[in-house]
Amino acid sequence: MSKKDHSQLHQHEHAPDIDKVSGVETTGHEWDGLKELNNPLPRWWLWVFLACCIWAAWFVFQRPMWPTHRGVENYTQFKELAESQAQIRARQNAYLERFSDASLDEIMADAELYNFALAGGNAVFKENCATCHGTGAEGNIGGYPNLNDDDWLWGGKVTDIYQTIHSGIRDTAHTMETRISAMPAFGVDNILPREDIQTLTDFVSKLHEGEDLTAHAGYKIFQENCATCHGADGKGGREVGAPNLADEIWLFGGSREQIFRSIYNPRMGMMPAWRYRLDENTLKQLAVYVHQLGGGEK
Ligand code: HEC
Ligand code: HEC
Repeated sequence: MSKKDHSQLHQHEHAPDIDKVSGVETTGHEWDGLKELNNPLPRWWLWVFLACCIWAAWFVFQRPMWPTHRGVENYTQFKELAESQAQIRARQNAYLERFSDASLDEIMADAELYNFALAGGNAVFKENCATCHGTGAEGNIGGYPNLNDDDWLWGGKVTDIYQTIHSGIRDTAHTMETRISAMPAFGVDNILPREDIQTLTDFVSKLHEGEDLTAHAGYKIFQENCATCHGADGKGGREVGAPNLADEIWLFGGSREQIFRSIYNPRMGMMPAWRYRLDENTLKQLAVYVHQLGGGEK
């Protein structure tokens, strides 16, 4: 510290250094001949500043600011998540109550319930059904039907679809109230000679062409052995889940080898009864969802 500085400080301690122009006391500090006026802080500023200090102190205490301190409300992000989930559930419950009271027809007629069903059904489908039917419900060769088309084994009304999902198909391991039917194994069980099955294979593979096949050697054999389930025209029978053989949609493949195999030793597709795994509301959501995929019937 220079001698001059020292003398100034000294002077300040004893007598205030007054600025000649403004008549205001200075802080006594000097930079290249400039001195700072010692004006009091504006009142409003001071109060805001004090309020901020108090707020900051409270905030540090209120929030989880350091690892061992969770704030006065015991804040955690898990808790925040749980709270917003509870809010969502409460909102859903408002729907669910109305939803569980509504019949399938009522749901179809109410835009709000309908959209609620679609959103839920879509998610549940991906989780439970996509393994067999595909994520887009497009089905898989090997007996897993496409659910987007209007070709139905057991019916395409929303109530039919509900019934299929609810009770399953050939799920006799869980319930006898499942959809049941069995095509006889015409080859393996020696019901028809091999030549007849070959004739039928040719007949069936021509059905979709839509030509008159009454003169075909297979026509009579078909009427005698197959028409009870698949219909006289081969267009299928929903009471027994017998597929339409006169279109080009196949559960097990439409090549001659595959058709032969389907007649010789049919494989009966099995679908689980979902009522043992999903609740009633979810079953309804799924029925509505599958119904709107493309092939739903009135
Ligand atoms: C383990 C495989 C499997 C799973 C999982 C599965 N399904 Fe199926 N599903 C099948 C099979 C096989 C059939 C055809 C049965 C037959 O041959 O009649 C079928 C048929 C259906 C049908 C009838 C189609 C028609 O043409 O009448 C509907 C509707 C259906 N499934 C919906 C669902 C829904 C919804 C789910 C999910 C909750 C689901 N499935 C899960 C195997 C499955
Ligand atoms: C008792 C009823 C019943 C009788 C009788 C019957 N079927 Fe079937 N058939 C079915 C059912 C049900 C299926 C579907 C199996 C499944 O869903 O897994 C089927 C499936 C088929 C398939 C496979 C279709 C596909 O999409 O892959 C062919 C082909 C077929 N039947 C031909 C015949 C012929 C030919 C006869 C007569 C010799 C016959 N069926 C008699 C019920 C029957």
